[in-house]
Amino acid sequence: MERLQKVIANAGVCSRRKAEELIKARKVKVDGEVITELGTKVGEHQEITVDNIKLASEQKEYYLFNKPRGVVTTTNDDKGRKTVMDYIPTNKRIYPVGRLDYDTTGLLFLTNDGDLANQMMHPSSELEKVYIAKVKGIAKGEHLVPLKSGVMLDEIKVIPDYVKLRKTDKVSNTSIIEVVIHEGKNHQIKRMLAAVGLEVIKLKRERIGFLTLKGLESGEYRKLNPKEVKQLHEFLNKK
Ligand code: URA
Repeated sequence: MERLQKVIANAGVCSRRKAEELIKARKVKVDGEVITELGTKVGEHQEITVDNIKLASEQKEYYLFNKPRGVVTTTNDDKGRKTVMDYIPTNKRIYPVGRLDYDTTGLLFLTNDGDLANQMMHPSSELEKVYIAKVKGIAKGEHLVPLKSGVMLDEIKVIPDYVKLRKTDKVSNTSIIEVVIHEGKNHQIKRMLAAVGLEVIKLKRERIGFLTLKGLESGEYRKLNPKEVKQLHEFLNKK
């Protein structure tokens, strides 16, 4: 359920402020009934008319983006830094689903489909997120064994779906570790690795479910094709 003025604005009819004026001016009907209450909540399947013209719902868009370092995952930044929205030209009100830190790179999913976004964010979606972390030092069993059995974050035990040591480099004294999780807690990978004594130097998200970075250079985006959108809906709905 969303506020009526927001739904009207999202449909691209006018600004939220103007929508409020239209509601007060008795121009808006929900399921045939004039609504004058500003905070009225409406559901997806209700018919909304403005001046007796039916509202078309905003067309849904789905994007994959390969986020570079030094870009914030918000729709606008009060410090004037570059945001992911600077890279994707659209007049739709898309937003990122989940966050990558300012210094994290890799796969980000953006959409204006609120229902799908909610489903994706829910841990029960079991949507795997695959991260590749470069850490300081040579990772060993003493780090990986406790990591695999789970670490405490926000007083909850978090067990990764999968952990693999990909590479160690004695010369640079670093290691590359793949960690797969299905939640999206704040700084989750950095905090999980810190909990077992490993400091992350670089972090990249390689995959979200079946969606990968394939064909996307850093800073590039692409729209999901209809088959991928269908596959994503099907995956989330069978959970
Ligand atoms: N975990 C982190 O620590 N940072 C990210 O950006 C994503 C997951």
